[in-house]
Amino acid sequence: MAEKPPAGPNDLGEPVSVAALSIADKATAPNAAAEQQIDPWSVSAATDEHGNILAFDYEAISRKWNTKLIDNALLQRFESLTGHKPHRWLRRGLFFSHRDLESILDVYERGETFFLYTGRGPSSSSMHIGHTIPFEFTKWLQDVFDVPLVIMLTDDEKFLFKEDLKLEEVIGFARDNAKDIIAVGFDVKKTFIYSDLEFLGTAGKHMLLNAWEFSKGITFNQVRGAFGFDGSTNTGRIFFPNLQCVAAYATSYPFIWGDDPLSPVRSKKTAAIPCLIPCAIDQDPYFRLLRDHTKSMSHKIPRPALIHSKFLTALQGAGGKMSASNPNSAIFMNDSAKGIKNKINKHAFSGGQETLELHREKGGNPDVDVAYQYLTYFSDDDEKLERLARDYRSGELLTGDMKKECITLLQEYVGSFQERRKAVSEEVLNEFMRPRRLEWGGNPNPKKP
Ligand code: TYM
Ligand code: TRP
Repeated sequence: MAEKPPAGPNDLGEPVSVAALSIADKATAPNAAAEQQIDPWSVSAATDEHGNILAFDYEAISRKWNTKLIDNALLQRFESLTGHKPHRWLRRGLFFSHRDLESILDVYERGETFFLYTGRGPSSSSMHIGHTIPFEFTKWLQDVFDVPLVIMLTDDEKFLFKEDLKLEEVIGFARDNAKDIIAVGFDVKKTFIYSDLEFLGTAGKHMLLNAWEFSKGITFNQVRGAFGFDGSTNTGRIFFPNLQCVAAYATSYPFIWGDDPLSPVRSKKTAAIPCLIPCAIDQDPYFRLLRDHTKSMSHKIPRPALIHSKFLTALQGAGGKMSASNPNSAIFMNDSAKGIKNKINKHAFSGGQETLELHREKGGNPDVDVAYQYLTYFSDDDEKLERLARDYRSGELLTGDMKKECITLLQEYVGSFQERRKAVSEEVLNEFMRPRRLEWGGNPNPKKP
């Protein structure tokens, strides 16, 4: 580990991210005792023959699922088209993979409309810091492209997949989580947030029409293949994927575009509006199903595009899993400043040496150091990151110093989130969740053919 070259700048002039480095490392672990496993409900990293947990191998996932890796050419096109420097999560490889992102850039270039769709399964009243990644990134995309956004809260999914939850409870979680999501900073004029359980019984008629039509084109065998269901799976779970899929069709939200939600007829013109879905890679199985079966819909609908992130590492280190049921696995967005400090100090995996003497002599390894990894995701200061990594490797900077930097930054991130969260009233929430026409600008300088 210690002989690994220092994280130097890549060809974008940015420090190479820890996560990017671990992709290359991991390709050489052929005799892992257990393979990594990723699906929308659980993820586990591979283990070696001694049972040690290995880092996720994201390139292998991309290969297996046939997604495209985001490369510099794509980032350069993004920058020249939008006039925005790619988000540090793109530059540093946290968002690493996509499906058909080029086609969305084509649509934007022509000045045509597309929309963003993302979501959250509300299983507890507070989100962890990993859950904020797709939302922070989606907000940035919304600001850059100036397009409408829908956010689906799959309270129905959580009800069906968690034995002990009641309907009333998950609807409550959906409202709590919607407030967390609003606190990320979305623009209400361009954003519609909904709970499946509430929306589908009210203005969601066209979404249900889409779901029935979509479900007719998919057999039980195909859903079982995608999700590993069996004969004892409850039938709600078997139907649910149709809903998460058709949420990517513009006709599911007629009111956004000024179409009549009570009409029995869905608009053919609206059906042609393309969709881009930001999410972590665990959600991809849903959207493979979506893309494979979109052609069976009666309207001509473009195949929805995707942009995928890696998982923000759990406090326990590479391959660890952030879990809502283990408070020590993650920083939660309702943790206090003191709680954050304690968690990082006690639970964040350290790349430092056992003793002070050894650390001064051999230096630490920022590539596996969770405090440093979090810094690479939440700090914009490229120079400082390089300095911290360098001083850590040389042994000058101690684990405690690195953790202190991380604590300060996360206290700021979570603290300012909590300030904004306090300002989200019931009225603000109700407005975000009200089916209504949205307003957006799109590309101010489209290229005319
Ligand atoms: P859920 O609630 O499990 O996760 C919400 C979003 O957070 C991502 N995510 C993470 N990202 C980075 N690091 C992590 N450690 C981490 N953990 C979770 C998830 O990939 C997801 O993007 N069924 C979905 C809800 C949903 C949805 C969607 C998500 C419905 N439609 C469209 C994305 C896009 C769910 O339960 O997500
Ligand atoms: N939501 C589950 C949990 O938090 C499992 C899960 C879904 C997950 N997507 C994930 C865990 C991404 C880590 C990363 O336990």
